[in-house]
Amino acid sequence: MSDTGIKGIRACVFDAYGTLFDYASAAARCRDVLGDQFDRLTTLWRDKQLQYTWLRVVQNRHADFWQVTGDALDYALETLAIGDRALRERLMDLYLTLDAFPEVPEMLKRLKKMGVKTAILSNGAPAMLKAAVDNAKIGGLLDAILSVEEVGVYKPHPKVYQLAVDRLAVGAKAILFLSSNAWDAHAASAFGMRVAWCNRYSQRPERLPGKPDCEIRSLAEVPELLAA
Ligand code: 2OP
Repeated sequence: MSDTGIKGIRACVFDAYGTLFDYASAAARCRDVLGDQFDRLTTLWRDKQLQYTWLRVVQNRHADFWQVTGDALDYALETLAIGDRALRERLMDLYLTLDAFPEVPEMLKRLKKMGVKTAILSNGAPAMLKAAVDNAKIGGLLDAILSVEEVGVYKPHPKVYQLAVDRLAVGAKAILFLSSNAWDAHAASAFGMRVAWCNRYSQRPERLPGKPDCEIRSLAEVPELLAA
């Protein structure tokens, strides 16, 4: 990375949950029922959702992200002794219409004006991603919506990042990958992509292979990162 940014980027590829879409917005919209437990539910739900994806990769027992997200929610609700079935269904429905982070539409518009390809690369099942993209009205700003369901294995397996290279027909070194998840950012870097880690959650750097090229706090910084 030069002091004027990351050169030679032809495509920006975005993680979805936590990066483009705010997974915490689902439980936050149920504060009427959850009260001050909504934060703890979000953390339990997200942590277990990711754990299940990693464990299913190791076991070679894939199930799609809708199944895994539901299983993780059931675990989280039981942990908090919440047995409300209507709330469970309401939370799952809300996962289909998560808030996009406020800077996302304008940032994508600026990248398109710069002639950069844009894509989502996510664990999300196709129907989940389509629902979130349609709700955020950003479908016209994306060249591709790529789900791990095309390769049948979750991040951080290299086959996932290879999917973006294949579908966009852009070499790894010409792709800037953006994720708020440190483990995902490291894995994309280890795969060979350039990486900007959008550290929304003040995570610590991982002690894993790969190293993000830079750390940002908002996706609004991305257009400036791409050197002229
Ligand atoms: C993704 O969207 C789970 O945030 C991760 O792939």
